[in-house]
Amino acid sequence: MDLDFAPMEGVTSCLYRNVHAACFPGVDRYYAPFIAPDGSGRFKGAALRDILPENNREIRLVPQLLCNTPEAFLAASRELSAMGYHEVNLNAGCPSATVVPKHKGAGMLADLKSLDAFLEEVFARCELRVSVKTRMGLESTAEFPAVLEIYNRYPISELIIHARDRAGMYRSSPDLAAFSAAFPLGRAPVRYNGNVVDAESCKKVMSTVPALDRLMLGRGAACDPALFRVLRGGAPLEAVELRHFLDRLERAFLQAGLGEHFTIARLKELWYYGIWKFPGAGRLHKALNKARRLDEYHAAAAALFASGLFDAGASFQG
Ligand SMILES: Cc1cc2nc3c(=O)[nH]c(=O)nc-3n(C[C@H](O)[C@H](O)[C@H](O)COP(=O)(O)O)c2cc1C
Repeated sequence: MDLDFAPMEGVTSCLYRNVHAACFPGVDRYYAPFIAPDGSGRFKGAALRDILPENNREIRLVPQLLCNTPEAFLAASRELSAMGYHEVNLNAGCPSATVVPKHKGAGMLADLKSLDAFLEEVFARCELRVSVKTRMGLESTAEFPAVLEIYNRYPISELIIHARDRAGMYRSSPDLAAFSAAFPLGRAPVRYNGNVVDAESCKKVMSTVPALDRLMLGRGAACDPALFRVLRGGAPLEAVELRHFLDRLERAFLQAGLGEHFTIARLKELWYYGIWKFPGAGRLHKALNKARRLDEYHAAAAALFASGLFDAGASFQG
């Protein structure tokens, strides 16, 4: 089974990806959180640092673009090609209220004529393989057959389907029936994404669509960084591994010059997912979220690990 790590803005930065790959090898591909190109064809600042090949040496990375003008997409793709990338991913799934009204991300699904025109221009001129990460519709997954009809006109290298509509944000149950109906109709190879958080949820998807052999894991993997190993039949996450992983990440954040405040903020973001491995730890999690200094954070994290609440079988259920 081919298993990719989903892009997660604010979580799966290059620092995270590198530490994850060192501690939990076996991810087929990491997707970089989206970059919204400004049309200049030049990446800058944090966005550039995140995708620079020298910052992603040990992993296979696919950069992702969020934009709806072919010119901006093509200019950014040329830059990616010059950096040595062979594939670029189009974000047609972001549900954010700041993105969708601009007809970007999942908002691209609002006007299928514009989507078609965008893809026509991109596929006529892009030097890179283009994969697409998509929602199944804006208001309803019932929109997907019409969306897929557009995608099927183009040689998309892989279609990653987040099996929700935009209205479902990250809360609704993935629509496995709609995904399973669409799966055999895709011209491109199809990858499933949405709420695969443990062996059980993986089994549910795989038994619904037995021919599926590509999955993308997001929040489940942010909670359980060993999830890729687990889904391949390997050992469950151990508390000591999680602790070591978080310690290495903390050092990486500090070494990158993030400073105490931002390092703690990033670690709290990771604990937002990781806390599901500690059922019943609400009070201890609150204490961790109150930490303002690293010594306070260390004490709160140590209390969580000492609590005995760690449960390797627990998974993200948010
Ligand atoms: C905090 C957060 C940030 C995300 N950032 C991105 C992003 O930059 N690009 C993208 O395509 N999807 C992004 N996603 C969506 C995930 O990649 C994934 O599609 C979604 O979480 C569903 O998969 P999961 O249930 O395995 O988490 C983000 C999701 C979350 C929760």
